[in-house]
Amino acid sequence: MNEVLEAIRTRRVVRALTADPVDRDLLTAVVDSARFAPHAGNRRLHRYAVVTGPRLLQALRMVSPGMLQRPTAAVAVCVDWAEVRRYGFPPANPGPYVDVGTAAATMLLAAHSLGLAAGPVTSFSRVAVATLLDLPPDVRPELIVCLGHPAAEQPPPVRRRGGPSWDDLVRWERGTPHSTEEC
Ligand SMILES: Cc1cc2nc3c(=O)[nH]c(=O)nc-3n(C[C@H](O)[C@H](O)[C@H](O)COP(=O)(O)O)c2cc1C
Repeated sequence: MNEVLEAIRTRRVVRALTADPVDRDLLTAVVDSARFAPHAGNRRLHRYAVVTGPRLLQALRMVSPGMLQRPTAAVAVCVDWAEVRRYGFPPANPGPYVDVGTAAATMLLAAHSLGLAAGPVTSFSRVAVATLLDLPPDVRPELIVCLGHPAAEQPPPVRRRGGPSWDDLVRWERGTPHSTEEC
């Protein structure tokens, strides 16, 4: 299997982290990887806020119920909604949110490829995080990528029980065995 597929298949959210800081070069490599993610309209409607200070990281945790890990670095992926409006995206256009996902997925994979632990968090107070990060009024944090070094001891992987199989979720063509619809 090639290295990219291998990385995609082995990436997991890692929440058990050491207290070691993330080396600046590694952090830069992770943040820069988002430049190469696909973006709707090929516009730069997103802003990235990088946090490494222990006090600010601790404050972020306090307003982020979904931040179960203690990251030693974090990247808030933000949308500049004023830029979105200027560009003319209608409010219902999912592009800006999809772009948050492409940027986050790219950073998670980059971190994994560098041996870092990483995990996305969306359960946080947008207002509180924007205030802590001193973001301009129209720039809203939408997802935080938590980063650190993986602890030696990790909880066992959670196994999905029951539910549909992957084949149940994928439909190849109308009328193939995976489809429940009549031709
Ligand atoms: C949009 C999005 C939001 C997420 N928000 C959180 C979160 O707030 N807290 C958290 O611990 N994990 C969060 N996750 C991580 C998922 O729980 C995780 O990806 C999922 O359980 C599958 O685990 P895996 O990525 O290790 O395969 C989020 C993932 C995505 C894609």
